[in-house]
Amino acid sequence: MTRAEYESLAKEILAHDRRYYVDNAPIVADVEYDRLRKSLDKVEAEHPDWILSWSPSQRVGHEPLSSLNKVERATPMLSLDNTYSESDLREWDARVRKGLGATAIPAYVVEPKIDGIGIELVYRGGVFTLGATRGDGRTGQDVTHNLRTINALPLALSEPVDITVRGEVYMDRATFDRLNANRVTRGEEPFMNPRNLTGGTITQLDARAVAERPLKLFLYEIVGDVPLRTHWEALAWMRRLGLPVSTEIARVNSFEELASAITRWADRRGSLGFDIDGIVVKVDSFAQRDELGATSRWPRWAIAYKFPATQVTTRVLNVEHDVGRTGAITPVAILEPVELAGTTVSRASMHNWDQVALKDVRIGDFVVVEKAGEIIPQVVSVIKERRPEGTVPILAPTVCPSCGGALAKGEGEVALRCTNDASSCRGQLEESLTFFAHRNNMNVDNLGPKLVAQLVEKGFVKDVSDLYALDVQTLCTLERMAEKSANAIIKNLDNSKRAPLPKLISALGIPLIGGVAASLIAERFPSLKELLERTPEEIKLGLLEVTGFGEERANAVADYFGDPRKRAVLEKLRARGVDPIAVKTSVEGPLTGKSFVVTGTLSVPRGEIQKKIEAAGGKFASAVTKATSYVVAGADVGAAKLEKATKLGVPVIDEKRLAELIAGE
Ligand code: IVH
Repeated sequence: MTRAEYESLAKEILAHDRRYYVDNAPIVADVEYDRLRKSLDKVEAEHPDWILSWSPSQRVGHEPLSSLNKVERATPMLSLDNTYSESDLREWDARVRKGLGATAIPAYVVEPKIDGIGIELVYRGGVFTLGATRGDGRTGQDVTHNLRTINALPLALSEPVDITVRGEVYMDRATFDRLNANRVTRGEEPFMNPRNLTGGTITQLDARAVAERPLKLFLYEIVGDVPLRTHWEALAWMRRLGLPVSTEIARVNSFEELASAITRWADRRGSLGFDIDGIVVKVDSFAQRDELGATSRWPRWAIAYKFPATQVTTRVLNVEHDVGRTGAITPVAILEPVELAGTTVSRASMHNWDQVALKDVRIGDFVVVEKAGEIIPQVVSVIKERRPEGTVPILAPTVCPSCGGALAKGEGEVALRCTNDASSCRGQLEESLTFFAHRNNMNVDNLGPKLVAQLVEKGFVKDVSDLYALDVQTLCTLERMAEKSANAIIKNLDNSKRAPLPKLISALGIPLIGGVAASLIAERFPSLKELLERTPEEIKLGLLEVTGFGEERANAVADYFGDPRKRAVLEKLRARGVDPIAVKTSVEGPLTGKSFVVTGTLSVPRGEIQKKIEAAGGKFASAVTKATSYVVAGADVGAAKLEKATKLGVPVIDEKRLAELIAGE
């Protein structure tokens, strides 16, 4: 064989590799392929000096490296901004349109968001020369030796171009399950999930170990200038060069098309054979991308739409018993940290002890954890097949883990409760102080759980009123507390003395009283002084006159203000200068005297609609009654609310009509 023949043989094999691993459409039988490989091996053994760096035999190196080199890149690898809802995506679309000016209409490319490890590949003269991890974006690690083992990665392209591309290395589910099954048979710990395993594999020093854990690859961006106009064209070109590009991509021309592409994706997600954690939406035109630019963290021309309810598997490291502000004891699973819907999760609520017993969660178990939207993550189920040996059932505590007090289960309640209150149970005291200072309540910045724990530990604070007896000197005796921070906290506390009355009421944590009820109370009894002067009976009757205030809530408030211990704390608060301001909650405006129920998906978040309605003097309610003036219906509106509206003769209007009413038309 001549040298030229050797080179064309190597090319022929690479072309077969590509048809097999990238296109999924081989054109030769395995025996024929093996024959070609054997003759290549033979020539290379006879002429070691001929061996090409991109020869198919050169995927796996022989000697492990001693360390990974750093790779500095001129164009940092950015991340992507995330959204979790259609309305957020609509806002992004609106920002893109605004950024491009009224006349330009963006087309978008929709791609799967592969849950793998981001990498960058450099080709010089069409030959693969460098592959690096993302690292911190600017500096990554040189993992060329490991990337070469990926069969889908072309060692040489079909044209001798200089090009840098970015993409994702991942492992498919079938490979992951097979490797894990082998490990379990050998008595080894199973791997957590394909993404972690990919990350651990790609940074190995010995490429031979990597070759035993077959990885896959998709590429999705070209770095730097290319003589092309759109991303869609760029992807087609990458494919022609022999680079693996997902075939599951679409180009859309309107928000409606985008929304339906997303729905299709969410449905197909389980049948892909590999994990995706969302989809990526990208502006197609390069000129438009340039116009939109990027922030320091992500481009403005792309966004990740994460599927709302996501589940991950992780391990239970411990189970703690949390004592809540009202004494309820909740089991909390302490987890090996995992990424879930955009945040790192290391704790998950297990609701109550009945649930723990029912699901039989044990320390050491692998569990499925779920998070829907903004809600706290929860343990969904235990993977019993992966339970290690020697685990024991978790028993409910018999005394309060914080104060050692007796526990009781209220009638009809599932929660175990400490029978002491915040005056003698430290857990409850800490929680109620943190709740009091929280942003949604008295909004005392920098007074979080850690500081609260210290204040209680030192005995400086025994109830919420003691917060207002603190001074800079006292705070400075605490760990890691500089005078500057101490000053800031005292100032924040001082400012909170004049918080709006509803904020103080909700900060007290009266059972059943949230933000909305607190506003109603403040409207009826406009000062703390007045609330303290009334008898419980007067409070109850007064509140029952307020529309939307039921018997149970009225009783809860009356009981609270009738409790001598609570009253003592409230008096101390007043004595220490807490004097909340009365707020005029109802405004005069075009919607005065009208009440609105909003249902379905609207173009802006519900909170914003509420603000607009209230700013125009209207009331915002959640249930349709005969007192409702209008039902505002958005997309995918619930049938029940509409039916009720029709039955009660309440007019149903759309967002446009609402805007007209607000404008007084
Ligand atoms: S584009 C500047 N496209 O998701 C554009 N990224 O959470 C950035 N990812 O760092 C990347 N699939 O590692 C892009 N089709 C896709 C992707 C994708 C997965 C990864 C990528 C990125 C991370 C952000």
